[in-house]
Amino acid sequence: MIVNTARFVVSNSDFKKCPTDMRHEFAFIGRSNVGKSSLINMLTGNKGLAQTSSTPGKTLLINHFLINDQWYLVDLPGYGYAQRSKEGRKEILRIIKEYILNREQMTCLFLLIDGRHKPQKIDLEFMEWLGENGIPFCIVFTKLDKLSSSAAKSATASYCAQLLDTWEELPPVFRTSSVDRRGKTELLDYIEQLCALPLQAD
Ligand code: GTP
Ligand code: MG
Repeated sequence: MIVNTARFVVSNSDFKKCPTDMRHEFAFIGRSNVGKSSLINMLTGNKGLAQTSSTPGKTLLINHFLINDQWYLVDLPGYGYAQRSKEGRKEILRIIKEYILNREQMTCLFLLIDGRHKPQKIDLEFMEWLGENGIPFCIVFTKLDKLSSSAAKSATASYCAQLLDTWEELPPVFRTSSVDRRGKTELLDYIEQLCALPLQAD
């Protein structure tokens, strides 16, 4: 899949106000600062499309981007930012979970994991919640340019091995970097395959 056009459509804190035209949509979720917005910019080849920052907590709303006038990429706020108040964290999680549970046209959720770190409780719990609710998701390892190629391979392999302690099978896994653009073709090809399927509205 080649991205020819990508444009920002709308920001919301309420899933009910998200676009109502039924198109496939793919959302990016993960801890604050894991690289969600950067990945969206990398996939679309537009550095300024989604706002990024080295300070966690940059994305606070549900942001819709229309790609090739055909499907949406959705940038979600990150969860688990420790500097935010407990109430603030709860509110973000509420916005995210309501969106995920109610957005029928969300074809797949990409769960981003910083490829440098061992499995963290907050991500494992989030995956468990996705599983319990039957949400289709993929794992996307990010920031792999920060590791040597052998370290990237072994870190992501041992992460997956640990997941298999509790999961019967792994979801699709992608290895990416927004800096060297690895994983771009694989992710866009995967999205293209899913876009070819009829939209599954419950
Ligand atoms: P929130 O919106 O705050 O939840 O963060 P986010 O997940 O959208 O992260 P964002 O894309 O804003 O990136 C956070 C920081 O990580 C920025 O300083 C990025 O430049 C950096 N970053 C993101 N992806 C990569 C990557 O693949 N490699 C490297 N080296 N840095 C990255
Ligand atoms: Mg962001």
